[in-house]
Amino acid sequence: MRKRIVAGNWKMNKTYEEALSLVSEIDNMVKDEVNGDVTVIVAPPFPFLQGVGKLTQGNDLMHLAAQNVSEHESGAFTGEVSAGMLKSVGVQYVIIGHSERRMYHHEDAQTLYKKLKAAIAQGITPIFCCGEPLDERDADRHFDYVGKQLHDSLSYLSNEEFDKVVVAYEPIWAIGTGRTASSQQAQEMHAYIREQLSRMFDAEAAFNCSILYGGSCNPGNAKELFSQPDVDGGLIGGASLKSRDFTDIIKSF
Ligand code: PGA
Repeated sequence: MRKRIVAGNWKMNKTYEEALSLVSEIDNMVKDEVNGDVTVIVAPPFPFLQGVGKLTQGNDLMHLAAQNVSEHESGAFTGEVSAGMLKSVGVQYVIIGHSERRMYHHEDAQTLYKKLKAAIAQGITPIFCCGEPLDERDADRHFDYVGKQLHDSLSYLSNEEFDKVVVAYEPIWAIGTGRTASSQQAQEMHAYIREQLSRMFDAEAAFNCSILYGGSCNPGNAKELFSQPDVDGGLIGGASLKSRDFTDIIKSF
């Protein structure tokens, strides 16, 4: 079954105290205001995972994500965090291939494939990000660009492994810019992504895959975006740092 998902990517923001307050506020609002048909995910920085996770545990709608994972299992990889470690502190989802990691940390398609495998092996659901820069869209090459990103990291997974994957389409020109994709631009790319997935995997798995939109999603545009047939929710950056905005986005379905 395709899930409706709203995930908050906190990126490198908040102190520990602030993170705990934010998640308590979100948790309370979600309990009071959100019906049971949506999966809510928060992705705090690594050192806050366990503390934030303790606060989300009692709420069935709330889930815990990490923002990154090592492709390695264990060993001499200073500064890295393995999927097994994430699992051991209750992490259920992990963001893989965010454009900021591709850009600033030079994560290539093969590395992302290994990260996908590492997460899936631990039963952690990857949220695999894709999306084109502005020049590719301006040159009308955005479909090919995103198709290649999907192919280069996902196509080596088995059907069974792919079943666990959530995809997030995040056009780079929309991330943190206040310039969101129109609902039509999002829908046509999401439909294209689903079609590509159905070529790589069985049609049912592609149909059931949740495809999230990310990039300047806010309470004002979420409803229109989420009403598109192939938009199954959102990966939210800036607006996920404000409990009221994040909850209003969750309520936009
Ligand atoms: P934004 O970020 O909502 O601040 O544009 C989205 C993301 O990078 O996941």
